[in-house]
Amino acid sequence: MLNWIDTRSDEQLAAAARDLFAVAFPDSPAPGGVWAAPGRVNLIGEHIDYAGGASIPFALEQNTAVAVAPRTDGLLRIASEYDGAVAHASIPLADVRPGHPSDWSGYVAGTVWAATIANALTCSGLDIAIVSDVPVGSGLSSSAALECSTAVAAYELCHGRAPDDTARAQLAQACIRAENEVVGASTGGLDQNASLFGQRGKALFLDFSTGAVERVPFNIDAQDMVLLIADTNAPHTLSDGQYASRRGIIDAVQSAAGSTIREIPDAEAFAATVDPAAAELYRRRVRHVVEETNRTLAAGTALAKANLDEFRRLMRESHVSLRDLYEVTTPELDSAFTAAGELGARMTGGGFGGAVIALIPRSAVESTAQAIHDAAAYRSFPEPTFLVARSGEGARRLA
Ligand code: GLA
Repeated sequence: MLNWIDTRSDEQLAAAARDLFAVAFPDSPAPGGVWAAPGRVNLIGEHIDYAGGASIPFALEQNTAVAVAPRTDGLLRIASEYDGAVAHASIPLADVRPGHPSDWSGYVAGTVWAATIANALTCSGLDIAIVSDVPVGSGLSSSAALECSTAVAAYELCHGRAPDDTARAQLAQACIRAENEVVGASTGGLDQNASLFGQRGKALFLDFSTGAVERVPFNIDAQDMVLLIADTNAPHTLSDGQYASRRGIIDAVQSAAGSTIREIPDAEAFAATVDPAAAELYRRRVRHVVEETNRTLAAGTALAKANLDEFRRLMRESHVSLRDLYEVTTPELDSAFTAAGELGARMTGGGFGGAVIALIPRSAVESTAQAIHDAAAYRSFPEPTFLVARSGEGARRLA
């Protein structure tokens, strides 16, 4: 029996957020609304958002929803339902600062803090009840969904209207800052941009050298193709040093060059000079960044021409590079990649656990999922869970 991930409708998710709010904050007036932000899946362009590269993600139909009411005493009270239990946090906004709070509540409190100091909004406290259908620790950006749902809620409660694209760009920066400075995860901007700018039926072409966000057609249905997500359920975290160590090398090269990797003429050769004792390692890492950037630009062209064969070939190459050059895959991810047939498959997200995606004919969904499941069982890996991904709306008001 295959294990498919359940997803609630927008109405069910909004009702669950309101119910949690009523139980968690009985002394508070009714919430001013319910807002949601999606997780994302990245099709290609991995580990290059912090190197001036490009990515092609789309927003998922799986959302985090927040029921929110304003307060007047400067306090943030947060209740979050996760895995059948409810976690609580309470912190004065004035106490939020780099490094504090650094647990899960830092994604929420840090977003309000960063948006406030960027003058994107003013806030005198909030009660926030959180429910989510975005799988956690799967490389599908549950953290960004948490940040971005908080950001659009706080924005609309402050301004009385939804953020336009200019305000979304400002909120994306605040969410990134919350994650980098308050929680201490040195991630790039891929996830927050995808969650804030996603649109149903579209993918996004994010160019990190210019900051440009383009909504591009993503109509795989027309070719009877689907995107299968296989969550390996292997333990995953981005704040355990592995992600930071990859990024540290790229940052060192970029700061030695005074530019992004993309702008360095022969970046691989240059990288070898930055730390001669680790020249081979630096070369490998930078070679991934250079080639993945080129692959993603080529994938953008292939998508514009609806050439999914070429797109699938590039996805396969991306996984091989993340496995052999950037070394962020795990045995579980590699097993799922091989079992999915490799063409059109790759790991998605930061790696070190998480999910594999496969762009495959609709008729092959069951057999591909079964093959991934059987390969995991054979090696006694955790049982994978599955989802057929469709592109959904970016962060918005639900109710
Ligand atoms: C995580 C980070 C992103 C990006 C990806 C890898 O999802 O949050 O900024 O670096 O890993 O592409």
